[in-house]
Amino acid sequence: MKQSNEPSRIPGWHKLSLDERRNRTAALRNLDQTTLRDAMTHGGLHLDDAKLMIENVIGTYALPFAVAPNFTINGRDVLVPMVVEEASVVAAAGNAARLIREGGGFTAQVTPPVMIGQIQLFAKDVHKATEQIKEHRKELLRVAREADPMLIRFGGGPLDLETRLVPDDDSEGQFLVLHLHVDVRDAMGANAVNTMCERLRGPLEKLTGGRVGLCILSNLADQRLVTAACSVPVEALTMENRSGAEVAQGIVMASLFAEMDPYRAATHNKGIMNGVDAVMLATGNDWRAVEAGAHAYATKKGGYAPLATWRLMEGKSLVGRLTLPMAVGIIGGTTKVHPGARAALEILGAESATDLGMVATCAGLASNMAALRALSTEGIQRGHMRLHERSRKLAREGQKP
Ligand code: MEV
Repeated sequence: MKQSNEPSRIPGWHKLSLDERRNRTAALRNLDQTTLRDAMTHGGLHLDDAKLMIENVIGTYALPFAVAPNFTINGRDVLVPMVVEEASVVAAAGNAARLIREGGGFTAQVTPPVMIGQIQLFAKDVHKATEQIKEHRKELLRVAREADPMLIRFGGGPLDLETRLVPDDDSEGQFLVLHLHVDVRDAMGANAVNTMCERLRGPLEKLTGGRVGLCILSNLADQRLVTAACSVPVEALTMENRSGAEVAQGIVMASLFAEMDPYRAATHNKGIMNGVDAVMLATGNDWRAVEAGAHAYATKKGGYAPLATWRLMEGKSLVGRLTLPMAVGIIGGTTKVHPGARAALEILGAESATDLGMVATCAGLASNMAALRALSTEGIQRGHMRLHERSRKLAREGQKP
Protein backbone atom coordinates (compact mmCIF):
# COMPACT_ATOMS: atom_id res chain seq x y z
CA MET A 1 0.00 0.00 0.00
CA LYS A 2 1.31 3.43 -0.90
CA GLN A 3 1.95 5.66 2.11
CA SER A 4 0.46 9.16 1.93
CA ASN A 5 2.99 12.03 1.64
CA GLU A 6 2.15 13.33 5.10
CA PRO A 7 0.42 11.78 8.10
CA SER A 8 -3.25 11.06 7.46
CA ARG A 9 -3.93 12.64 10.87
CA ILE A 10 -5.20 16.03 9.75
CA PRO A 11 -6.64 18.12 12.61
CA GLY A 12 -9.55 20.28 11.45
CA TRP A 13 -10.04 18.32 8.21
CA HIS A 14 -13.80 18.82 8.50
CA LYS A 15 -13.37 22.58 8.90
CA LEU A 16 -11.56 23.03 5.55
CA SER A 17 -13.58 24.12 2.54
CA LEU A 18 -14.44 21.53 -0.11
CA ASP A 19 -11.75 22.97 -2.43
CA GLU A 20 -9.13 22.95 0.33
CA ARG A 21 -9.89 19.31 1.14
CA ARG A 22 -9.73 18.41 -2.53
CA ASN A 23 -6.41 20.19 -3.10
CA ARG A 24 -4.93 18.74 0.06
CA THR A 25 -6.01 15.26 -0.99
CA ALA A 26 -4.32 15.74 -4.37
CA ALA A 27 -1.14 16.98 -2.69
CA LEU A 28 -1.07 14.19 -0.12
CA ARG A 29 -1.42 11.56 -2.80
CA ASN A 30 0.58 13.22 -5.63
CA LEU A 31 -2.52 13.40 -7.82
CA ASP A 32 -3.08 15.82 -10.64
CA GLN A 33 -5.51 18.46 -9.32
CA THR A 34 -7.43 18.81 -12.59
CA THR A 35 -7.86 15.05 -12.98
CA LEU A 36 -9.11 14.81 -9.41
CA ARG A 37 -11.47 17.76 -9.88
CA ASP A 38 -12.91 16.20 -13.05
CA ALA A 39 -13.35 12.84 -11.35
CA MET A 40 -15.16 14.51 -8.45
CA THR A 41 -17.54 16.59 -10.57
CA HIS A 42 -21.12 15.45 -11.28
CA GLY A 43 -20.42 11.99 -9.94
CA GLY A 44 -17.35 11.64 -12.16
CA LEU A 45 -19.13 9.52 -14.75
CA HIS A 46 -19.73 10.66 -18.31
CA LEU A 47 -22.94 9.52 -20.01
CA ASP A 48 -20.93 7.85 -22.76
CA ASP A 49 -19.21 5.64 -20.18
CA ALA A 50 -22.46 5.06 -18.27
CA LYS A 51 -24.04 3.71 -21.47
CA LEU A 52 -21.27 1.12 -21.69
CA MET A 53 -21.72 -0.05 -18.11
CA ILE A 54 -25.37 -1.12 -18.02
CA GLU A 55 -28.44 -1.32 -20.24
CA ASN A 56 -31.33 1.10 -20.85
CA VAL A 57 -29.42 4.09 -19.41
CA ILE A 58 -31.26 7.41 -19.17
CA GLY A 59 -28.81 9.28 -16.93
CA THR A 60 -26.33 9.03 -14.06
CA TYR A 61 -26.90 9.22 -10.30
CA ALA A 62 -24.51 11.00 -7.93
CA LEU A 63 -23.75 10.49 -4.23
CA PRO A 64 -21.42 12.45 -1.91
CA PHE A 65 -17.76 11.41 -2.14
CA ALA A 66 -15.78 12.04 1.08
CA VAL A 67 -12.33 11.33 2.45
CA ALA A 68 -11.94 10.07 6.03
CA PRO A 69 -8.64 11.06 7.69
CA ASN A 70 -6.68 9.58 10.61
CA PHE A 71 -6.36 5.97 9.43
CA THR A 72 -3.10 4.19 10.01
CA ILE A 73 -2.99 0.56 8.93
CA ASN A 74 -0.01 -1.74 9.54
CA GLY A 75 2.05 1.38 10.30
CA ARG A 76 1.07 3.21 7.09
CA ASP A 77 -1.03 6.33 6.90
CA VAL A 78 -3.99 6.03 4.59
CA LEU A 79 -6.73 8.37 3.35
CA VAL A 80 -10.01 6.49 3.07
CA PRO A 81 -12.39 7.41 0.22
CA MET A 82 -16.04 6.88 1.16
CA VAL A 83 -19.24 7.25 -0.85
CA VAL A 84 -22.39 7.14 1.23
CA GLU A 85 -25.78 8.85 1.49
CA GLU A 86 -26.02 8.67 5.31
CA ALA A 87 -24.86 11.62 7.45
CA SER A 88 -22.40 10.87 10.30
CA VAL A 89 -20.87 7.74 8.74
CA VAL A 90 -17.72 9.48 7.48
CA ALA A 91 -17.26 11.68 10.56
CA ALA A 92 -17.78 8.70 12.86
CA ALA A 93 -15.23 6.55 11.00
CA GLY A 94 -12.65 9.36 11.02
CA ASN A 95 -13.20 10.00 14.75
CA ALA A 96 -12.88 6.34 15.65
CA ALA A 97 -9.73 6.08 13.49
CA ARG A 98 -8.28 9.01 15.49
CA LEU A 99 -8.87 7.16 18.79
CA ILE A 100 -7.56 3.88 17.35
CA ARG A 101 -4.45 5.75 16.22
CA GLU A 102 -3.69 6.44 19.89
CA GLY A 103 -3.07 2.72 20.25
CA GLY A 104 -0.85 2.51 17.16
CA GLY A 105 -3.62 2.20 14.58
CA PHE A 106 -5.09 -0.86 12.91
CA THR A 107 -3.33 -4.09 12.14
CA ALA A 108 -4.67 -6.08 9.22
CA GLN A 109 -3.92 -9.60 8.06
CA VAL A 110 -5.03 -11.18 4.83
CA THR A 111 -5.22 -14.62 3.27
CA PRO A 112 -4.25 -15.02 -0.42
CA PRO A 113 -7.00 -13.81 -2.82
CA VAL A 114 -8.66 -17.18 -3.34
CA MET A 115 -12.26 -17.38 -4.57
CA ILE A 116 -14.47 -20.46 -4.77
CA GLY A 117 -16.37 -21.50 -7.89
CA GLN A 118 -19.18 -24.06 -7.48
CA ILE A 119 -20.11 -26.73 -10.00
CA GLN A 120 -23.22 -28.75 -9.24
CA LEU A 121 -23.12 -32.31 -10.56
CA PHE A 122 -25.97 -34.86 -10.62
CA ALA A 123 -24.67 -38.41 -10.97
CA LYS A 124 -26.28 -41.82 -10.52
CA ASP A 125 -23.51 -42.89 -8.15
CA VAL A 126 -22.15 -39.78 -6.42
CA HIS A 127 -19.47 -41.78 -4.59
CA LYS A 128 -18.12 -43.26 -7.83
CA ALA A 129 -18.19 -39.79 -9.44
CA THR A 130 -16.26 -38.38 -6.47
CA GLU A 131 -13.56 -41.02 -6.96
CA GLN A 132 -13.39 -40.33 -10.72
CA ILE A 133 -12.97 -36.60 -10.07
CA LYS A 134 -10.25 -37.22 -7.48
CA GLU A 135 -8.40 -39.50 -9.91
CA HIS A 136 -8.58 -36.90 -12.72
CA ARG A 137 -8.04 -33.84 -10.51
CA LYS A 138 -4.84 -32.77 -12.29
CA GLU A 139 -6.38 -32.95 -15.78
CA LEU A 140 -9.45 -31.03 -14.65
CA LEU A 141 -7.29 -28.32 -13.09
CA ARG A 142 -5.38 -28.10 -16.38
CA VAL A 143 -8.64 -27.50 -18.27
CA ALA A 144 -9.52 -24.73 -15.79
CA ARG A 145 -6.05 -23.20 -16.11
CA GLU A 146 -6.30 -23.07 -19.91
CA ALA A 147 -9.46 -20.98 -19.59
CA ASP A 148 -7.54 -17.92 -18.35
CA PRO A 149 -3.91 -17.72 -19.51
CA MET A 150 -3.75 -14.02 -18.54
CA LEU A 151 -4.46 -14.81 -14.88
CA ILE A 152 -1.72 -17.48 -14.93
CA ARG A 153 0.67 -14.89 -16.37
CA PHE A 154 -0.09 -12.63 -13.38
CA GLY A 155 0.70 -15.44 -10.94
CA GLY A 156 -2.86 -16.56 -10.19
CA GLY A 157 -4.99 -19.46 -11.41
CA PRO A 158 -6.83 -22.56 -10.21
CA LEU A 159 -5.29 -24.14 -7.13
CA ASP A 160 -7.50 -26.97 -6.03
CA LEU A 161 -10.66 -28.93 -6.69
CA GLU A 162 -12.69 -30.18 -3.73
CA THR A 163 -15.83 -32.30 -3.70
CA ARG A 164 -18.78 -32.04 -1.33
CA LEU A 165 -21.99 -34.03 -1.07
CA VAL A 166 -25.16 -32.03 -0.54
CA PRO A 167 -28.46 -33.67 0.48
CA ASP A 168 -31.06 -33.44 -2.31
CA ASP A 169 -34.45 -33.08 -0.59
CA ASP A 170 -36.38 -33.74 -3.81
CA SER A 171 -34.92 -37.16 -4.57
CA GLU A 172 -33.93 -37.88 -0.97
CA GLY A 173 -30.51 -38.57 -2.45
CA GLN A 174 -27.44 -36.42 -2.76
CA PHE A 175 -25.78 -34.35 -5.44
CA LEU A 176 -22.15 -33.46 -5.80
CA VAL A 177 -20.76 -29.96 -5.54
CA LEU A 178 -17.26 -29.31 -6.78
CA HIS A 179 -15.42 -26.34 -5.33
CA LEU A 180 -12.81 -24.90 -7.64
CA HIS A 181 -10.38 -22.73 -5.66
CA VAL A 182 -8.89 -19.97 -7.78
CA ASP A 183 -6.25 -17.39 -6.90
CA VAL A 184 -7.72 -14.35 -8.66
CA ARG A 185 -4.89 -11.91 -7.79
CA ASP A 186 -6.14 -8.29 -8.07
CA ALA A 187 -9.54 -9.04 -9.61
CA MET A 188 -12.81 -9.55 -7.79
CA GLY A 189 -12.70 -12.79 -9.71
CA ALA A 190 -16.30 -13.51 -10.75
CA ASN A 191 -15.55 -13.54 -14.49
CA ALA A 192 -12.44 -15.68 -14.24
CA VAL A 193 -14.03 -18.19 -11.87
CA ASN A 194 -17.31 -18.47 -13.78
CA THR A 195 -15.48 -19.01 -17.08
CA MET A 196 -13.35 -21.77 -15.55
CA CYS A 197 -16.35 -23.51 -13.99
CA GLU A 198 -18.28 -23.42 -17.27
CA ARG A 199 -15.23 -24.75 -19.11
CA LEU A 200 -15.29 -27.80 -16.83
CA ARG A 201 -18.92 -28.67 -17.63
CA GLY A 202 -18.18 -30.87 -20.70
CA PRO A 203 -15.15 -32.71 -19.27
CA LEU A 204 -17.02 -33.45 -16.02
CA GLU A 205 -20.11 -34.81 -17.77
CA LYS A 206 -17.90 -36.97 -20.01
CA LEU A 207 -15.85 -38.23 -17.08
CA THR A 208 -18.73 -39.13 -14.75
CA GLY A 209 -21.66 -39.71 -17.13
CA GLY A 210 -23.56 -37.27 -14.91
CA ARG A 211 -25.24 -33.93 -15.61
CA VAL A 212 -23.78 -30.57 -14.59
CA GLY A 213 -26.29 -28.11 -13.11
CA LEU A 214 -25.16 -24.66 -11.95
CA CYS A 215 -21.66 -23.30 -12.56
CA ILE A 216 -21.12 -20.13 -10.54
CA LEU A 217 -18.87 -18.36 -8.06
CA SER A 218 -19.79 -18.56 -4.36
CA ASN A 219 -20.14 -15.25 -2.55
CA LEU A 220 -19.29 -16.97 0.71
CA ALA A 221 -15.64 -16.12 0.00
CA ASP A 222 -14.31 -17.74 3.17
CA GLN A 223 -10.94 -18.49 1.59
CA ARG A 224 -10.35 -14.77 1.00
CA LEU A 225 -10.45 -13.20 4.44
CA VAL A 226 -9.20 -10.01 6.04
CA THR A 227 -8.84 -9.69 9.80
CA ALA A 228 -8.51 -6.16 11.16
CA ALA A 229 -7.72 -5.52 14.81
CA CYS A 230 -7.03 -2.56 17.04
CA SER A 231 -6.14 -1.88 20.64
CA VAL A 232 -7.26 1.47 22.02
CA PRO A 233 -5.81 2.75 25.31
CA VAL A 234 -8.72 3.19 27.72
CA GLU A 235 -7.73 6.83 28.49
CA ALA A 236 -8.13 7.73 24.82
CA LEU A 237 -11.85 6.94 25.16
CA THR A 238 -12.43 9.51 27.91
CA MET A 239 -15.46 11.74 27.25
CA GLU A 240 -16.64 14.99 28.80
CA ASN A 241 -18.72 13.31 31.46
CA ARG A 242 -17.42 9.71 31.39
CA SER A 243 -14.14 8.01 32.19
CA GLY A 244 -12.38 6.03 29.47
CA ALA A 245 -12.96 2.86 31.50
CA GLU A 246 -16.72 3.46 31.54
CA VAL A 247 -16.80 4.06 27.79
CA ALA A 248 -14.71 0.93 27.12
CA GLN A 249 -16.99 -1.12 29.38
CA GLY A 250 -20.03 0.20 27.49
CA ILE A 251 -18.54 -0.89 24.16
CA VAL A 252 -17.78 -4.38 25.54
CA MET A 253 -21.34 -4.69 26.88
CA ALA A 254 -22.70 -3.64 23.47
CA SER A 255 -20.52 -6.30 21.82
CA LEU A 256 -21.85 -8.94 24.24
CA PHE A 257 -25.44 -7.88 23.49
CA ALA A 258 -24.81 -8.57 19.78
CA GLU A 259 -23.08 -11.86 20.62
CA MET A 260 -26.22 -13.01 22.48
CA ASP A 261 -28.99 -11.68 20.24
CA PRO A 262 -29.27 -12.01 16.44
CA TYR A 263 -31.72 -9.06 16.29
CA ARG A 264 -29.00 -6.85 17.72
CA ALA A 265 -26.23 -8.63 15.73
CA ALA A 266 -27.96 -7.65 12.46
CA THR A 267 -27.83 -3.94 13.37
CA HIS A 268 -24.30 -4.25 14.78
CA ASN A 269 -23.22 -5.74 11.43
CA LYS A 270 -25.13 -3.06 9.52
CA GLY A 271 -22.97 -0.49 11.33
CA ILE A 272 -19.84 -2.35 10.17
CA MET A 273 -21.10 -2.39 6.59
CA ASN A 274 -21.67 1.39 6.75
CA GLY A 275 -17.89 1.74 6.55
CA VAL A 276 -17.20 -1.24 4.28
CA ASP A 277 -19.86 -0.41 1.68
CA ALA A 278 -18.84 3.25 1.53
CA VAL A 279 -15.33 2.14 0.46
CA MET A 280 -16.83 -0.42 -1.95
CA LEU A 281 -19.00 2.23 -3.59
CA ALA A 282 -16.16 4.76 -3.82
CA THR A 283 -13.89 2.24 -5.52
CA GLY A 284 -16.54 0.90 -7.91
CA ASN A 285 -16.67 -2.54 -6.32
CA ASP A 286 -19.61 -4.95 -6.17
CA TRP A 287 -20.88 -4.12 -2.68
CA ARG A 288 -23.72 -6.68 -2.97
CA ALA A 289 -21.11 -9.42 -3.29
CA VAL A 290 -19.31 -8.18 -0.18
CA GLU A 291 -22.60 -7.77 1.72
CA ALA A 292 -23.71 -11.31 0.79
CA GLY A 293 -20.33 -12.71 1.84
CA ALA A 294 -20.30 -10.82 5.14
CA HIS A 295 -23.76 -11.92 6.27
CA ALA A 296 -23.21 -15.54 5.19
CA TYR A 297 -19.89 -15.53 7.06
CA ALA A 298 -21.70 -14.18 10.13
CA THR A 299 -23.43 -17.58 10.41
CA LYS A 300 -20.28 -19.67 10.22
CA LYS A 301 -20.73 -21.03 13.75
CA GLY A 302 -24.39 -21.84 13.22
CA GLY A 303 -26.45 -18.89 14.45
CA TYR A 304 -26.17 -15.35 13.12
CA ALA A 305 -23.36 -13.58 15.02
CA PRO A 306 -21.65 -10.18 15.13
CA LEU A 307 -18.72 -9.93 12.72
CA ALA A 308 -16.71 -7.67 15.07
CA THR A 309 -16.25 -8.19 18.79
CA TRP A 310 -14.74 -6.02 21.56
CA ARG A 311 -13.02 -6.94 24.83
CA LEU A 312 -11.17 -5.12 27.59
CA MET A 313 -7.57 -6.28 28.08
CA GLU A 314 -6.25 -6.04 31.65
CA GLY A 315 -8.46 -3.01 32.19
CA LYS A 316 -5.99 -1.01 30.06
CA SER A 317 -6.99 -1.32 26.46
CA LEU A 318 -10.08 -1.96 24.42
CA VAL A 319 -9.36 -4.58 21.78
CA GLY A 320 -11.55 -4.94 18.69
CA ARG A 321 -11.38 -7.57 15.99
CA LEU A 322 -13.23 -8.00 12.71
CA THR A 323 -12.89 -10.78 10.11
CA LEU A 324 -14.63 -10.41 6.75
CA PRO A 325 -14.61 -12.19 3.41
CA MET A 326 -13.29 -9.60 0.96
CA ALA A 327 -14.16 -10.32 -2.66
CA VAL A 328 -12.83 -7.06 -4.07
CA GLY A 329 -10.85 -5.98 -7.10
CA ILE A 330 -8.76 -3.08 -8.33
CA ILE A 331 -8.74 -4.12 -11.99
CA GLY A 332 -11.47 -4.58 -14.57
CA GLY A 333 -15.17 -3.76 -14.42
CA THR A 334 -16.24 -0.40 -13.02
CA THR A 335 -12.78 0.28 -11.61
CA LYS A 336 -11.62 0.53 -15.24
CA VAL A 337 -14.29 2.81 -16.71
CA HIS A 338 -15.38 5.03 -13.80
CA PRO A 339 -13.03 8.02 -13.25
CA GLY A 340 -14.42 8.45 -9.70
CA ALA A 341 -13.57 4.85 -8.83
CA ARG A 342 -10.09 5.25 -10.31
CA ALA A 343 -9.56 8.43 -8.27
CA ALA A 344 -10.74 6.60 -5.13
CA LEU A 345 -8.14 3.88 -5.68
CA GLU A 346 -5.46 6.56 -6.14
CA ILE A 347 -6.55 8.38 -2.97
CA LEU A 348 -6.42 5.13 -1.08
CA GLY A 349 -3.04 4.18 -2.53
CA ALA A 350 -4.12 0.59 -3.14
CA GLU A 351 -1.50 -1.40 -5.02
CA SER A 352 -3.45 -4.66 -4.81
CA ALA A 353 -6.93 -6.00 -4.14
CA THR A 354 -5.54 -7.14 -0.81
CA ASP A 355 -4.72 -3.51 0.10
CA LEU A 356 -8.26 -2.49 -0.74
CA GLY A 357 -9.71 -5.33 1.34
CA MET A 358 -7.61 -4.30 4.33
CA VAL A 359 -8.71 -0.66 4.14
CA ALA A 360 -12.40 -1.56 3.76
CA THR A 361 -12.25 -3.92 6.74
CA CYS A 362 -10.54 -1.28 8.89
CA ALA A 363 -13.23 1.23 7.85
CA GLY A 364 -15.79 -1.36 9.00
CA LEU A 365 -14.13 -1.81 12.37
CA ALA A 366 -13.87 1.97 12.86
CA SER A 367 -17.56 2.42 11.98
CA ASN A 368 -18.54 -0.31 14.42
CA MET A 369 -16.49 1.19 17.26
CA ALA A 370 -17.95 4.65 16.62
CA ALA A 371 -21.50 3.27 16.65
CA LEU A 372 -21.04 1.25 19.85
CA ARG A 373 -19.32 4.18 21.58
CA ALA A 374 -22.18 6.52 20.72
CA LEU A 375 -24.94 3.99 21.48
CA SER A 376 -23.51 3.06 24.87
CA THR A 377 -22.99 6.69 25.93
CA GLU A 378 -25.02 9.60 24.59
CA GLY A 379 -26.99 7.68 21.94
CA ILE A 380 -26.57 8.28 18.22
CA GLN A 381 -29.15 11.01 17.72
CA ARG A 382 -27.23 13.77 19.54
CA GLY A 383 -24.11 13.53 17.35
CA HIS A 384 -26.29 13.10 14.30
CA MET A 385 -28.26 16.26 15.07
CA ARG A 386 -25.02 18.14 15.87
CA LEU A 387 -23.69 17.37 12.38
CA HIS A 388 -27.04 18.22 10.85
CA GLU A 389 -27.08 21.58 12.65
CA ARG A 390 -23.50 22.28 11.56
CA SER A 391 -24.40 21.70 7.91
CA ARG A 392 -27.42 24.01 8.21
CA LYS A 393 -25.30 26.69 9.91
CA LEU A 394 -22.63 26.54 7.20
CA ALA A 395 -25.33 26.67 4.52
CA ARG A 396 -26.89 29.73 6.24
CA GLU A 397 -23.47 31.41 6.26
CA GLY A 398 -23.19 30.70 2.55
CA GLN A 399 -20.34 28.24 3.08
CA LYS A 400 -20.48 24.75 1.68
CA PRO A 401 -19.85 22.16 4.43
C1 MEV B 1 -26.89 3.18 11.64
O1 MEV B 1 -26.62 3.38 10.28
C2 MEV B 1 -25.93 2.14 12.21
C3 MEV B 1 -26.15 1.76 13.69
O2 MEV B 1 -27.49 1.34 13.86
C4 MEV B 1 -25.18 0.64 13.99
C5 MEV B 1 -25.38 -0.01 15.34
O3 MEV B 1 -26.48 0.04 15.90
O4 MEV B 1 -24.40 -0.60 15.82
C6 MEV B 1 -25.93 2.95 14.58
